[in-house]
Order: sequence, then C-alpha cells, then structure tokens
Amino acid sequence: MNELQDLQGRHVVLGLSGGIACYKSAELVRELVRHGASVQVVMTEAAAQFITPVTMQALSNRSVYLSQWDAREPNAMAHINLTREADAVLVAPASADFIAKLAQGRADELLSLLCLARPIERCALLLAPAMNREMWAHPATQRNAAQVVADGALILGPAAGDQACGEVGDGRMLEALELCDELIAHFQPKRLAGRRVLISAGPTFEAIDPVRGITNLSSGKMGFAIARAAQEAGASVTLVAGPVALPTPRHVARVDVKSAQQMHDAVLPLAPQHDVFVATAAVADWRPAECGAQKIKKDGSGAVPTIPMTENPDILAAVARLPAAPYCVGFAAESHDLAQHARAKRLRKGVPLIVGNLGPATFGRDDNALLLVDDQGERELARADKLTLARALVAEIAQRLPAR
Ligand code: C5P
Repeated sequence: MNELQDLQGRHVVLGLSGGIACYKSAELVRELVRHGASVQVVMTEAAAQFITPVTMQALSNRSVYLSQWDAREPNAMAHINLTREADAVLVAPASADFIAKLAQGRADELLSLLCLARPIERCALLLAPAMNREMWAHPATQRNAAQVVADGALILGPAAGDQACGEVGDGRMLEALELCDELIAHFQPKRLAGRRVLISAGPTFEAIDPVRGITNLSSGKMGFAIARAAQEAGASVTLVAGPVALPTPRHVARVDVKSAQQMHDAVLPLAPQHDVFVATAAVADWRPAECGAQKIKKDGSGAVPTIPMTENPDILAAVARLPAAPYCVGFAAESHDLAQHARAKRLRKGVPLIVGNLGPATFGRDDNALLLVDDQGERELARADKLTLARALVAEIAQRLPAR
C-alpha cells in the first residue's frame, strides 16, 4: 500500500466551528483527500464567517452541510445520515464554545447535533482545539475538555506558538499534516497498547579528529518508520537516534547521540524499562582508539597517518544479556547470502528475531524488503515503502510478545 493511500476507503466528516484556524482546514481537506479519504464537510454558521463553504466544497468535491434543516435529505435527518456512513468525525477547528456545547450534550445546530447522534462505538470523535491561549487555559475550557474526553472524544493538540491575536502560548490548531497523521494513527490497530518500545536508529559517527570521522550510509528511515508504526499501534516509544536529518515521529521521545559508545550508554539504562528493543541502528563495529584534540595535518611529506582502531560495544548483544531483557529484535544489513547471515547473526546475538535486509538495496531509499528469521524459520515481507513494512513488522512483533 502506498503511504499516501493510508486513508483509502475511510469516510470522514470534517466539522468546522468558528475560528481563524478555519483557513488551515482547507489544507486539511486536501491532505485527507490526498491520502485517499472521502470527506464530507459540515460547517457552523460561525465557521462560514471565516472561510466560505464554496472553498470547502471545491476541495472536498461534495457540497457542504450548514444546517440541520438542509432540504437535500429526503428524511430530513442530516445528523443521522451523515454519521451512519462516517468512520470518524473530526472537528477542526474546535472552538471553546463548541467544546462547551459538546460537554453539555447540546445539539442546537447540525455539527453539535451530529456529534451527539453519532454511533459512539464505531465512529470516533476527534477534536482539534483552536483558540486564544487564555481561552484554552481558562478553567471552564479545561473542565469542558476533560469532560468530552471522559465522554469518549479524543483531543488532538493544541500546539503552542504564535497566535493570530499576537499572543504566544497554547491554543494553536495542529497543522493539516499533523492532523492527517493523527487520523491515520487513529485507524491503526492498537496491537502494542500499553507496551513500551525502544528503538535504535541511524548510523553512528566515530570521530577521528575534531573535523573528521567514520560513518556509514544508514539514513535512519527504517528505524524512524518503526518508531512511528509502534506509536500508531499504541506503544509508548523511545527512539535513540544517531546523526540523521529526519523529523521525530509524533509522540515519540527522542534521544540524539553521535557515537556507538554514546548510543550504548543511552540504550542500556533505558532497555530494562521497555518491553521491546528494536535495533535498527547501523552501529560502527570499530572506532579510532583515540580522537585527537587537533586536526591531523597533511605535512607534505607524503606520509599517511595510521589510525589505530578499537572495537565498539555490541549494543544489541548487551541488551539481550540483561537479566530483565526486553524482547529483542535485531537487524542484519548484508550485501549477499542474506538468509544464511541472518540465521547466524540471530544465534550469535542471542535474540529471538532477526530482520534481514540487503544494505545496498535499502540504505537511503524509501522502500525495502525484509526477511524475518526466528526459531520457527523464515518469513519474507515483500518490497514496499518503509512505513508499510514497519507496520507489518510491528504486527509480527506484537504476535510474538509474551502475554502479560
Ligand atoms: O553490525 P551487525 O551486522 O552485527 O548488526 C546487527 C544488529 O546488531 C543490528 O540490529 C544492529 O543495530 C545491532 N548492533 C548493535 N551494536 C553494534 C553492532 C550492531 O546494536 N555494535
């Protein structure tokens, strides 16, 4: 499945209540549609003061609903019809007033009416608050927000930062891409609910002198995709990352390191607090025995420096040896004889599951193919984008975890 089709087959009611963040909802419709969702927009009267229904209609390719008295519905029950076909109702922006209405179960216009009338078991209600920071921080709003969460709604954000009023603080609506990612995550099965997952990712950088070092071509993309997939599956995720230029997946705790030794020192104390350790990092096997304080200079004589090397600690093997070891998953990046090397590596590292991939066919790329090797044998996950593979791997790991 293409990453962009993550919402294929999903039907979303996108509700807009009144707020300047309505301008972001235009972009949000585009993102949802781009990811394969069909979107029915419903706007309150206040929302229509900020952005026109024509804009939302053009972007969603459906005429917008504005009133419960809409004559298009033969049975005059827009609130029922709209929610019975929806997989989720996302209200973005959700104003302070709108959240207050939901908290009270009021239903005096179409959007709050359909929120109340939705089949609560199978049609989630997600709210993206957007308001001035004082309004968000007000005890009444906080009380109302807690109440709607207790009643089963999910609150997305708000984010902190510059506000349209010129103030700075909590209350900004999440960006369209973030909301889209939240919705995609919402639809993923919660196979790792309540589990804690630790992931190492990226290359390491082993300094030779203050300006040079030894590293490798690992981009970190596979490890970051696994972090996102595990988080989407309901796990709380810690990601220990070598030097990579990738954004942190939402709700993932990230620790940045450079060298293998630093990665080891970060991972080892964290490992016993986690249920699963997935070692995707391409850790350098050796490092220069010493890192000079000054740049090694070329002196013109043609002499070549000799750099004595020393072995790095094996992080995965060290975690696997811990008395309270999490379930350990290793990666094997090989250039040939993948299955054979993966099998040998599994035994050498003492881990239950090794995931083999071909280094040159994956480093830096957006797709990959995986070979899972455990004590039962081998299983192939066919070439796909890394997020799709990461989700499949998460499902495989979840299935192998000891029951609690
Ligand atoms: O480098 P090698 O092929 O042995 O790596 C196999 C697995 O071990 C990978 O999952 C990698 O993240 C992990 N590893 C490690 N510490 C090392 C070397 C490798 O955790 N020093």
